[in-house]
Amino acid sequence: MPPICFTINGQPHTVDTLPPTTTLLQYLRLAPGLTGTKEGCAEGDCGACTVALRDGDRWRSVNACLIPLPALQGLTLVTVEGLAAGDVLHPAQSAMAADGGSQCGYCTPGFVMSLFEACYREDLDEQWRRDDQICGNLCRCTGYRPIREALDLVAGCRPADQFTAQLGTPDGSRSVAYTHGEHTFLQPTTLPALWQAFAEHPEHRIISGATDLGLEITKQGRTWPCLISLSALPLATYTTDGKTISIGATLTLADLEARSEVDLPPLARMLRYFASRQIKHRGTLGGNLCNASPIGDIAPILLALDASVVLLSADCERRLSLEDFFLDYRKTALEPGEILGRIEIPAIRPGQRISAYKVSKRREMDISSVAAGMSVTLDEAGVVTDIRLAYGGMAATTKRAAHAEAALMGHPWTEEAVEAAAERLAADFTPMSDHRGSAWYRETVAANLLRGFFEETKDTALPDLPLHPSGTVLGGAR
Ligand SMILES: Cc1cc2nc3c(=O)[nH]c(=O)nc-3n(C[C@H](O)[C@H](O)[C@H](O)COP(=O)(O)OP(=O)(O)OC[C@H]3O[C@@H](n4cnc5c(N)ncnc54)[C@H](O)[C@@H]3O)c2cc1C
Ligand code: FES
Ligand code: FES
Repeated sequence: MPPICFTINGQPHTVDTLPPTTTLLQYLRLAPGLTGTKEGCAEGDCGACTVALRDGDRWRSVNACLIPLPALQGLTLVTVEGLAAGDVLHPAQSAMAADGGSQCGYCTPGFVMSLFEACYREDLDEQWRRDDQICGNLCRCTGYRPIREALDLVAGCRPADQFTAQLGTPDGSRSVAYTHGEHTFLQPTTLPALWQAFAEHPEHRIISGATDLGLEITKQGRTWPCLISLSALPLATYTTDGKTISIGATLTLADLEARSEVDLPPLARMLRYFASRQIKHRGTLGGNLCNASPIGDIAPILLALDASVVLLSADCERRLSLEDFFLDYRKTALEPGEILGRIEIPAIRPGQRISAYKVSKRREMDISSVAAGMSVTLDEAGVVTDIRLAYGGMAATTKRAAHAEAALMGHPWTEEAVEAAAERLAADFTPMSDHRGSAWYRETVAANLLRGFFEETKDTALPDLPLHPSGTVLGGAR
């Protein structure tokens, strides 16, 4: 079986004696002794393990703690040790040093790597976008002001250095067929090769960006006889013909966020509140839907948008409404041998009013207590002709509020009608109480989100909300 080959800091690395569930972070700290990359949480929350992966003509910050080694096949990455050229620090390092952005230093390599990525980005032109750049990095001692200042200094500076020079260089082969003892990791590059891998390994588990599955590795110590990765398949697509927006299942959430700013602003806005840059650079839309979490953030807005899923297998392609895709708690309609191939969303119709909401205890990097996606279409007389109210965090699956919708359908879009519908939510949901919120809290929030949706859309088709999160501290860091 061929080894796994990738490049770190310009040096080729070959792995043939480690289990396929070894994470990049474990490898860095043990084998080549690159201990500058730290472990804080091993679950994608703290950013201490941030490194940068080359992705075409971009550098992308990612959490090394969640990437299984074979997923790096053919890729090029940089760790904090690879930044300085001899005694000359990289601008990301000098800015942190000059601005006093470090005390105990534990978080510093991770922040430096997020700043490193920022140097080569061209879209960090507003304060909220720069805040977004480092929301996946935690610092317990310095405080964020000097770190934000350091970021302000370097964002978009694009130094004329070796890292700019190597952007656009093609990756090596992404194909993987790696076995270690009883464990196999396959990464086919074509669909026929995927179907063959499925047939040869019926006991497989699918892996995509590994931002969910990686936690099963690091927190539960799980292993599988065979992991089959979708990451090298040509499924990271985004197309629109004016009527339908078609999104490939392996498109990363970061790319989806950028693309949907124009076509689907409510989805882009929801993604502002979703995890961190590092997670969104790896996590995919398909992974978010296939984990079928009742508190997954994207399903509510996609249900409101009347999305369909296209399931692929060796023999056929079948289309289901997203509603029919979720069967029960963490259970989908996927049959053995099938993958989610793409998601299709009807383009926003004239007169359609849409919004998405996420209520969590923190703005950045938190899990929803309640999430909602809502869409209403009115006729010229202001009467509701179509209504879709979808909630996450209220039941075992993301679910539409059928009773509340029925109370609104065919009625004028008025405060009275909305109040009557809010009453009917009690017939739709019996939420549970947990550490994120009591049943009473969730019921109250669900009703208030409907009222908020009415307020935001009563006079306008698309609420004129800013792209940035409403709680963002605006104004310069200085
Ligand atoms: C720190 C952190 C913060 C997070 N924050 C959020 C958040 O704010 N909101 C939120 O909703 N989620 C959040 N998540 C969860 C996660 O990032 C998302 O669910 C992500 O979209 C998963 O995508 P993935 O490609 O990484 O999936 P993976 O982890 O690779 O896979 C997830 C599951 O889906 C299956 N699967 C993946 N793709 C397919 C496919 N195409 N066909 C069939 N099966 C498939 C896999 O077998 C696996 O069971 C967070 C995770 C972390 C670690
Ligand atoms: S160690 Fe905390 S994000 Fe990886
Ligand atoms: S400098 Fe100590 S955690 Fe950030």
